[in-house]
Amino acid sequence: LSEETEQMLSAYEWLTKLYHHLIKYQKDGKDGLEYLKSRGLTKETLEEFQIGYAPDKRDFTAKFLIQKGYSKPLLLKSGILAGNDNNEVIDRFRGRIIFPIRNALGRTVGFGGRAMHDDSGPKYLNSSEGELFQKSKLLYNFDLAKRHIRKENEAVLMEGYMDVISVYQAGVKNVVATMGTALTETQAKLLNRYVDTVIICFDGDSAGIEARYKSALLLRSVGCDVRIANLDAEEDPDSYVREHGGEAFKERVLRTSDSYMSFFMRYQRRHFNLQLESERIEYIERVLKELSMIESALEREYYIQELHKEFDLSVDTLMSQLAQYQKSQP
Ligand code: UTP
Ligand code: MN
Ligand code: MN
Ligand code: MN
Ligand code: MN
Repeated sequence: LSEETEQMLSAYEWLTKLYHHLIKYQKDGKDGLEYLKSRGLTKETLEEFQIGYAPDKRDFTAKFLIQKGYSKPLLLKSGILAGNDNNEVIDRFRGRIIFPIRNALGRTVGFGGRAMHDDSGPKYLNSSEGELFQKSKLLYNFDLAKRHIRKENEAVLMEGYMDVISVYQAGVKNVVATMGTALTETQAKLLNRYVDTVIICFDGDSAGIEARYKSALLLRSVGCDVRIANLDAEEDPDSYVREHGGEAFKERVLRTSDSYMSFFMRYQRRHFNLQLESERIEYIERVLKELSMIESALEREYYIQELHKEFDLSVDTLMSQLAQYQKSQP
């Protein structure tokens, strides 16, 4: 690591400790603490994830770090501070809950800062992208989840900080998150090095459903098996676990997650109106095409049976159409 990178890492380390201290012991951090308690996080969890609070001041962080000897350019480059039009540096995180984002070695390389009120700007603000903090290459919580992921030979992939933290607190520990953005190839390959199966467990809203599809394709393309968990439209893993607990999450969300093909059929149904004959046929064709790329003969046969039962088409017809699609593959 370059001297400069080391300095940025050490600045993040100081700040992680400072923000974490504030949330535990200072009057300033009290709102933050209350907020997290209201969302069900325990003291132990705050400790383990080093969650903190950045005070609602323009120069609190800047003063602290500059006094410690860090230069303004370095702090700007690290993404900790923001510049304004008058060439001043100001604190990027003001009045926000701080989630330190750690790399695979457990060192903080960025922050996610959550607003505590709906009217205080974007819900989450992250450190700016740079040499140190590259969201597309990181998976949130990978360092803590790693050994559990290995042990279970399975990783659960979520969207957000709070999802991972609450589910981890509830006892399911092989959990990581993309931090909102679509999964990247780097992240997919990282997971593929550790596990056979990734369970995608995104939010139940439309954005979450579209992201499931894209992430499933990407994970399969790098060689992972995928399963896709279902959550109700208004739910995310955090809200589910808060309402139903960790055991229910394991039994009723993870264990009942869809295979890729079941998910694909469910997903495609959203795009076709199966009441209409023409769309019904298109849907069946689309499913058969996808099925023709599935390696397992058993699985193919299984879904052919499903189509046979649902649409009252003969197995022979379905099979011969499937064979045609198989032939036309490169
Ligand atoms: P969500 O909007 O689903 O938020 O974004 P959430 O994780 O459920 O957060 P809570 O429960 O309201 O606190 C999922 C993830 O997308 C990223 C964050 O990593 C967030 O956890 N995100 C979201 C941002 O980076 N910026 C945003 O403004 C919103
Ligand atoms: Mn969302
Ligand atoms: Mn969410
Ligand atoms: Mn949420
Ligand atoms: Mn529910």
